[in-house]
Amino acid sequence: MPTTLITGASSGIGWELTKQFAGGGDDVVLVARSEDKLNELANQVRNENGVNATVLPADLAKPDAVDELCRQLRERSIEIDTLVNNAGFGALGKFAEIPADRQTDMLMVNVVALTRLTRMLLPAMLKNGRGGVLNVGSIAAYQAGPNMSVYYASKAYVLSFTEGLREEVAGSGLHVTCLEPGATETGFGEDSGMGKLDMFSSATMPAKTVAKAGYEGYVNNADIVIPGWKNRLMVTSTSFLPRFATRKLVARLQGA
Ligand SMILES: NC(=O)c1ccc[n+]([C@@H]2O[C@H](COP(=O)([O-])OP(=O)(O)OC[C@H]3O[C@@H](n4cnc5c(N)ncnc54)[C@H](OP(=O)(O)O)[C@@H]3O)[C@@H](O)[C@H]2O)c1
Repeated sequence: MPTTLITGASSGIGWELTKQFAGGGDDVVLVARSEDKLNELANQVRNENGVNATVLPADLAKPDAVDELCRQLRERSIEIDTLVNNAGFGALGKFAEIPADRQTDMLMVNVVALTRLTRMLLPAMLKNGRGGVLNVGSIAAYQAGPNMSVYYASKAYVLSFTEGLREEVAGSGLHVTCLEPGATETGFGEDSGMGKLDMFSSATMPAKTVAKAGYEGYVNNADIVIPGWKNRLMVTSTSFLPRFATRKLVARLQGA
């Protein structure tokens, strides 16, 4: 069976994406820091879907985490067909006030680990002519985000990188998709501080719905999947407004 590696599988969208891929018959490799939660999910999909599930705990903010992960995959002779780069987090607050280490960790997880893991696993996918990459971005990718500037910029990177990669591998048989969720009911709202904002709490979608849209989009090799008509409307409207207007609007909504 094909094997899918999902980062950030211990909760939220990653948890639900794991259930989607396992439900589709894929063996899964689960990555995050919370080993107990990964084991719980691994047992669930083994029992419910009859697939193999391997747990590889890792802190993707650590500079050597991706190389160590790949070493463990080689040691276990696990070849990855689909990579789901889902792990990520945000932090609401002024750039000059959020601890520098938290910002650096955010870039390591949201950007660096995502890029390096893709770089490590893509050559085998290209050689086999199957599988691909599903990156989890955000509708934050489409405009600047005052009071959450690093997070928004990290998601703009994810979208740009995914689109570039998609064109580079076109015709290879690989699927490359960017899932762009809006506000979703996960641990993200509380962890980032965004959950207290009206713009977030008034528009959340269930993680299962978001993951299902992402999985189906990836299977059909969609380029970009934005779940929910309100989110699609928001993204479309940003393309009609000048950039200064969207950033001022976000600044007001995010209390900058
Ligand atoms: N929820 C939303 O409103 C929303 C909207 C747009 C985009 N997104 C994106 O969706 C993705 C998933 O987030 P979520 O909403 O499902 O939030 P979540 O429930 O907080 O899940 C985040 C996942 O990332 C993992 N993670 C965080 N830091 C990590 C690290 N240093 N090393 C390894 N894994 C790490 C967490 O696992 P551990 O803590 O166990 O390590 C967890 O599994 C993120 O990329 C997020 O930016 C979310």
